[in-house]
Amino acid sequence: MDKFAVFGNPIAHSKSPQIHRLFAEQTAQKIEYTAILASVETFEEELDRFFSDPNARGCNVTLPFKERAASWVEDLTPAAQMAGAVNTIIRDPSSGEFIGDNTDGEGLVQDLLRQKVILQKQRILLLGAGGASRGALYPLLQQKPKEIIIANRTFDKAQQLADLVSGHSVIPISFKDLSASSETIFDVIINSTSTSLSGVLPAIPDTCYKDVEFAYDMVYGQAPTTFMNHAMSLGVSRVSDGLGMLVGQAALSFMKWTGKMPKVEETLSMMRDTL
Ligand code: ATR
Repeated sequence: MDKFAVFGNPIAHSKSPQIHRLFAEQTAQKIEYTAILASVETFEEELDRFFSDPNARGCNVTLPFKERAASWVEDLTPAAQMAGAVNTIIRDPSSGEFIGDNTDGEGLVQDLLRQKVILQKQRILLLGAGGASRGALYPLLQQKPKEIIIANRTFDKAQQLADLVSGHSVIPISFKDLSASSETIFDVIINSTSTSLSGVLPAIPDTCYKDVEFAYDMVYGQAPTTFMNHAMSLGVSRVSDGLGMLVGQAALSFMKWTGKMPKVEETLSMMRDTL
């Protein structure tokens, strides 16, 4: 039986085993998918051990190992190179080579498109400049927005991200300067910070939400997140949490491993019921 796993620390909360089991049922694949709590000291050895089984075809990697996984693999896809991080390892069936891919950003874009969010020629405000933001940046740019404004509490990190895609219309700004700016008209806001996990809001002015068509939070939960509630209270009519991004990135990993595309919408509604 083909074997897959997700490596992370912590890992007990991971929904990946459940999602991949649903995918396997839908596509009639016999697979084993386990969650592995990897140690920060021995992550690479644990990957070696997992892949010493010839039935191990691939794995997902989550926090805090995505950057280390990018060093472990033999080759990186352009998405993983751009993200500087790997969330999906694929053992190439013909060469046996380990390829590092990143499906997080594409999972986000597909979730936005699934929800009929227009990105082309739009002004997108991307909040946060950590790993999640970096992974989203290039897939978002491929949708040809008018501009992406990366706003972050710490300006330098936003600047570093913008430098990675120089030549594109990506503008870094600090939350502080955004508050002082008169240019606060955006079509879409995407919150890649973890602020909603602690029930706080990114410190941006309310005027940023004024013309927004769609507000997306990468965090998800049973109830709308702090950021979603705030956007709605300011009149944003369409909001979403990040559960669709989670299912979307998983679906892309599954497809790369098995060649079968699972049913994202159906899986998403089943996962929603488990929250
Ligand atoms: P991830 O991989 O989830 O993006 P990360 O790389 O640690 O995690 O990045 C976390 C992001 O959330 C950063 O943009 C961080 O802002 P700073 O660069 O200024 O640290 C942002 N963040 C976390 N907590 C925040 C808070 N309370 N207010 C605003 N931004 C916050």
